[in-house]
Amino acid sequence: MTKVTEGVYWVGAVDWDVKNFHGYITHRGTSYNAYVVKGDKIAVVDTVKENFADTMMRHIKDIVDYEEIDYIISNHAEPDHSGSLKALIEAAPQAEVIASKRGKPTLEKYYGEMDIITTEERPQVDLGGKTLAFVSVPMAHWPDSMVTYIPEDKLLLSNDAFGQHLASNERFNDEVDQNQLWHEATAYYANILMPLYRSVSRAIKALDGIDIEIIAPSHGVIWRDNPLQIVEKYLQWVDGETKNRVVIAYDTMWKSTKKMAYAIAEGIGSTGVQALVYNLTENHRSDVITEILDAKALLIGSPTLNNHVYPSVGGFLAYLRGLSPQKKIGAAFGSYGWAGGAKRFVEEQMKAAGIDLIENELEFSYKPTPEEWMKAYNFGKMVGEKVKT
Ligand code: FEO
Repeated sequence: MTKVTEGVYWVGAVDWDVKNFHGYITHRGTSYNAYVVKGDKIAVVDTVKENFADTMMRHIKDIVDYEEIDYIISNHAEPDHSGSLKALIEAAPQAEVIASKRGKPTLEKYYGEMDIITTEERPQVDLGGKTLAFVSVPMAHWPDSMVTYIPEDKLLLSNDAFGQHLASNERFNDEVDQNQLWHEATAYYANILMPLYRSVSRAIKALDGIDIEIIAPSHGVIWRDNPLQIVEKYLQWVDGETKNRVVIAYDTMWKSTKKMAYAIAEGIGSTGVQALVYNLTENHRSDVITEILDAKALLIGSPTLNNHVYPSVGGFLAYLRGLSPQKKIGAAFGSYGWAGGAKRFVEEQMKAAGIDLIENELEFSYKPTPEEWMKAYNFGKMVGEKVKT
């Protein structure tokens, strides 16, 4: 356990091994953060994934006896935060359980009927010396999501918002490698919150005017050094702010689509704009999405296989459609043998994902000729100039 502020303690668990979080590759594991808040009365805010219940219970016991717990707060019903709720209730049956109005039925769907007080009935709790004020932030991440604010400490227990999938012995943002921290905070937003940007924006507005000195999310490290830096970053992301950068995601059968991707990248590079190229067999789609978050343009290349898109590109498009990145321009390209089809499909899917398409004729048979290579290069040059405007 770690002291967050006087009377507030981290009692969560570090999961060094989780590498796939519902389809998103978490290279650096994660943590599930729970907190004990001690005033005259005692509350536990959030729990951890079910298989880490023992760790959480041991951490709680280091701070308080289970019989002393007066309240259990569930900010969010997703099982990575509620999976040990039952174990905690069994150990502390006297505690009142508080969740949002949407949280109560969701928790009951997972764990059966429970005695839960909603935040409509109890919008805040006075622990004596510490207040827990609940703020509903629906769809940041699920309909039930809420955050808990402790005004005495200017401490926001933000649950999923502002988190990172980053396993670490260190608990605070100023203690970890800054490049890793920001990479994981970016990956987390891109792969989890990007499609929910309107709700995240509303959540940030709901917190407007609240004096915040520490943000303690439910994953990763606690933002105690300049916590508003992550809020400012979220404001840029929800606005869809982009850099002059192009991501090219492609796959290839006989290296023809690859040649096109490389030619386009060279053309983009000739304009001074950065191009990042990712083969979709060699790179996981969630890593590519992280790079797309603040790129202005996305180009997707696929060979035609059996009159259809290449499967790795099809999987990537399904993921992309769900995440619907904002304010992107893009284009499709690819090679084929005797009949095309992939390019049209990729364009349809990109359009459905909300990407503003650049018309082009980059669909070449068998193997690009030198003239076709030059067409791809010139297209890249045009895209490079376009993202600079
Ligand atoms: Fe970390 Fe929406 O759960």
